[in-house]
Amino acid sequence: MRVTLTVNDEARVADDVWPGESLLSMLRERLGLTGSKNACEQGECGSCSIYLDDTLVCSCLVAAGQAEGHRVRTVEGLTDGDGDAVKAAFVEAGAVQCGFCTPGLVVSTHALLDRDADPTDPDIREALAGNLCRCTGYEKILDAVRLAAERRRA
Ligand code: FES
Ligand code: FES
Repeated sequence: MRVTLTVNDEARVADDVWPGESLLSMLRERLGLTGSKNACEQGECGSCSIYLDDTLVCSCLVAAGQAEGHRVRTVEGLTDGDGDAVKAAFVEAGAVQCGFCTPGLVVSTHALLDRDADPTDPDIREALAGNLCRCTGYEKILDAVRLAAERRRA
């Protein structure tokens, strides 16, 4: 089937999408957007986090066909000042090791700071509870979110 949608503010069309195909797979394999990662394909790790319209979702749990006519924003599309600030904070805080979890964490952090400019540590932990990282031990990720929040408020 054909899926027509808006991705990162551009009209995009994906052809030959099979009925059971995930939005994650369509973004990566058909539209060339490999920023969203495929680690578990079961909604457990958050590495595939994107915005569908304005809602944060695990794109591995969304059928590609459900995105028909909708707006998608991936980590590649977070190029506004806030998105760049989150990405820079992750690098500066040393919160990136293998980097596999990072795109999902960046999108989830962006969503958190959009709804709460000054999150507490428990708020941050709760907001990122669905994003797993096997490398960093999470402390540097917390540092990155605090840094991004601080910069955004400045
Ligand atoms: S790949 Fe989607 S949650 Fe893990
Ligand atoms: S930096 Fe490797 S999984 Fe998070």
